This record gives sequence, C-alpha cells and structure tokens, in this order.
Amino acid sequence: MSDDLYRIRPRINGEWRDILVGHDIRPADTLAHLLKEKLGYTGLKVSCDEGACGACTVLLDGKAVLSCMMLAVEADGREVTTIEGLAADDPVVTAFAEQSEPGHGTALQCGYCTPGFVMTAKGFLAENPDPTAQQIREGLSNNLCRCGCYQAIVQAVLRAAAVMRGAVAGECRPAMPGGAPASSEGRGQ
Ligand code: FES
Ligand code: FES
Repeated sequence: MSDDLYRIRPRINGEWRDILVGHDIRPADTLAHLLKEKLGYTGLKVSCDEGACGACTVLLDGKAVLSCMMLAVEADGREVTTIEGLAADDPVVTAFAEQSEPGHGTALQCGYCTPGFVMTAKGFLAENPDPTAQQIREGLSNNLCRCGCYQAIVQAVLRAAAVMRGAVAGECRPAMPGGAPASSEGRGQ
C-alpha cells in the first residue's frame, strides 16, 4: 500500500466496510459522499450540503448527525446507521408510513425529507422516550420539509414514541380526524 493510502473501517448497517482513503475516497470527502456516492445508500438525501436542512441525517453510534458536515474518516471504527439499516417494521418508519394513509394526516408527500426526519427522530427518541409535541418540534427543528408536513410529522413521532414505550399497540390505527394519536392528548398540540 502506498504511503498516501490508509484504511478506515466503519461498521455500516451492521457490516464492517474496508475503505481505502486515497483510493476509494479522498481524505476530505464527507460521510454523506461515502455513504451515498460510494456505497450506494441512496435513501440518504443530500439537499443543501451545508448543514442547513437535515436531509442527510444518519445515526453515528446511535446519535443523529449530519453526514454532509462530517468527514468520512471520522466514522472509522464507529457504528453508522442509514435509513436502509432500519427494520421494515421499525416503529418510527411505521408511524411515518401510517401517517401517510388517508385520514391520518400526512407525514410525507414527496418523501425527500423523510429519511432525514426518521433518522433524526430515532436519535431524538433514544434520548427522549416520552416527549411532548413541543419537545418533538424543538428536537426536529433542524430538519426542513418543503412540502410542509410538520404537524403530521410531530404526530408520527408521538405515535412512534407511544409504540416504543408499549403505551399503544404497533398495528395500524383506525382513522382519526387530524391524525392525532391518543397519546398526544393534553400535550399542547
Ligand atoms: S444535506 Fe446535510 S444538512 Fe442539508
Ligand atoms: S415530504 Fe416533501 S420535502 Fe418533506
């Protein structure tokens, strides 16, 4: 190996990956570039590429980070999770999907922002298992949705939190006007 090359080993969605810096990526490449352009995790979106929209959010050792604002080499030896690494029945994924059903409001329209919101919500809920709607708004305030689905996104995260706490069952709910889950009552909607 040339002196200019060195290896990093991030664990991405449960799989250790060998990345040769100076060959596979440049030292200055972002984590977003490595994940999306080199490894094909296209669920990750890069919109602003300057830390302003949240679309590129992934989990790094369980915490939500903006992958466009990190160097790929910073992920060496660390656990990276993209939207592809979540189970299909992940409560946050399910809550966003259910909120897209007629009668539940809609947590996504074009869906471009959704992976970033889901991963931000995952990191947020890991630290705030029983949040209020206002805390969710604040916790997700760095993520932008150009379709304006904010209210339904809050509802989806409230729902996911309730399912994860075991406060409600995880199956689909009957339609409710405004999409408000039972757990959001009295939380200052
Ligand atoms: S693409 Fe990373 S914050 Fe917008
Ligand atoms: S659903 Fe379109 S940008 Fe959020």
